[in-house]
Amino acid sequence: MSDVLSLMDQWGPEKVVSVSHTRTGMKGVLVIDNTARGMGKGGTRMSPTVTTGEVARLARVMTWKWAAVDLFYGGAKAGIVGDPTGRDKEAVLRAFARALSNEVPAEYVFGLDMGLTEDDAAIIQDELGDRGAAVGTDAVLGGVPYDRLGVTGYGVAEVADALAARIGLTLDGARVVVQGLGAVGSAAVRRFAELGATVVAVSSVHGALCDPAGLDVERLLRLHAEFGDLAVKEYAGGVVQALGSELVVPAEVLVPAALQDVIDEGVAGRITARLVVEGANLPTSPAAQRVLAERGVVVVPDFIANAGGVVAAGFAMDARYSAFRPDAEVIRASVSTKLRENAVRVHEESARRGVTSHEAARALAQERVLAAMRLKGRVAS
Ligand SMILES: NC(=O)c1ccc[n+]([C@@H]2O[C@H](COP(=O)([O-])OP(=O)(O)OC[C@H]3O[C@@H](n4cnc5c(N)ncnc54)[C@H](O)[C@@H]3O)[C@@H](O)[C@H]2O)c1
Repeated sequence: MSDVLSLMDQWGPEKVVSVSHTRTGMKGVLVIDNTARGMGKGGTRMSPTVTTGEVARLARVMTWKWAAVDLFYGGAKAGIVGDPTGRDKEAVLRAFARALSNEVPAEYVFGLDMGLTEDDAAIIQDELGDRGAAVGTDAVLGGVPYDRLGVTGYGVAEVADALAARIGLTLDGARVVVQGLGAVGSAAVRRFAELGATVVAVSSVHGALCDPAGLDVERLLRLHAEFGDLAVKEYAGGVVQALGSELVVPAEVLVPAALQDVIDEGVAGRITARLVVEGANLPTSPAAQRVLAERGVVVVPDFIANAGGVVAAGFAMDARYSAFRPDAEVIRASVSTKLRENAVRVHEESARRGVTSHEAARALAQERVLAAMRLKGRVAS
């Protein structure tokens, strides 16, 4: 196991707290990465293989994500070693929350990540006797259920609309491909249709569905509500195309919203879209990003395009002690404004600096964090 101290560089982590509990076998870690712009905030993961190194890496991603979207929280993440489907999950969660009661909610607030659900967030609130201890609870408890609101996919389509205008495209009538029909993909498809785009291909793990004349989005989403990922087969009477084929279907806009590492150099050379909006995390390799940049394809990086969930988490943080239910329309409007502004800013910066949009976005986030560290006297000015 690597030494925790070796994880520390000029940005953080500022604090790493490891906890355990003998009776439940609970073991876990909280990593607070960088708080120059605000307290550490990031989800809580439960998996049998989670490590301190992994949690620290995810906490760093949160530092950049909050700064890139210009919201005032810092990076943090928590991880619990355990089986999220195990019968002892509740006991382990309660033990984890109790063990971190010195840090929560003053320095960290639990949230959702792999292995944790809205119900788990409610258990944590109960264990610490504090509505402020966790976000991501169900609307019944006054929480903000991000996935059900579809804020991330909504934001992806809004970003596409903002960038399309910059490159002389109008989304109204533009052909769009969306890979993945989960929380992000399905909400993106809905918003693209509302914005007048023609969705020519979608996919799920069960296959790709393509129609150059445009899919009937209303029917597709109805089937999706009933059959989930199998909607692609139900729609097409069982006849679907090979996975990955949708990425190179003739279109103006491509949204990978399923998995990481789906666009390598080879695929990047065959993409016909003029605009790629990364709904998924890490869908394009650095080499692919360079190929796309050379070919004049505009790419909106993942942590700019899929930050709708982060904006919603900001609202959820505010709602923790409020008597009023958060207003979904207000959240959507804010996702739209914030993400559009940021995507345009990153696009302009990448042109001005002559670097890829990923490099420009990272530089922008780092500059914001560094400026806060300077003002607070954490680095020499
Ligand atoms: N949910 C959020 O708010 C959110 C926020 C930021 C980033 N993301 C990222 O977006 C991506 C999707 O997240 P999600 O929450 O929609 O997940 P999800 O599990 O709800 O959906 C994933 C979808 O991808 C499909 N899929 C899996 N393998 C595929 C393949 N080979 N080809 C085509 N489709 C395939 C699945 O069938 C499913 O429809 C992930 O990279 C996630 O990290 C999600």
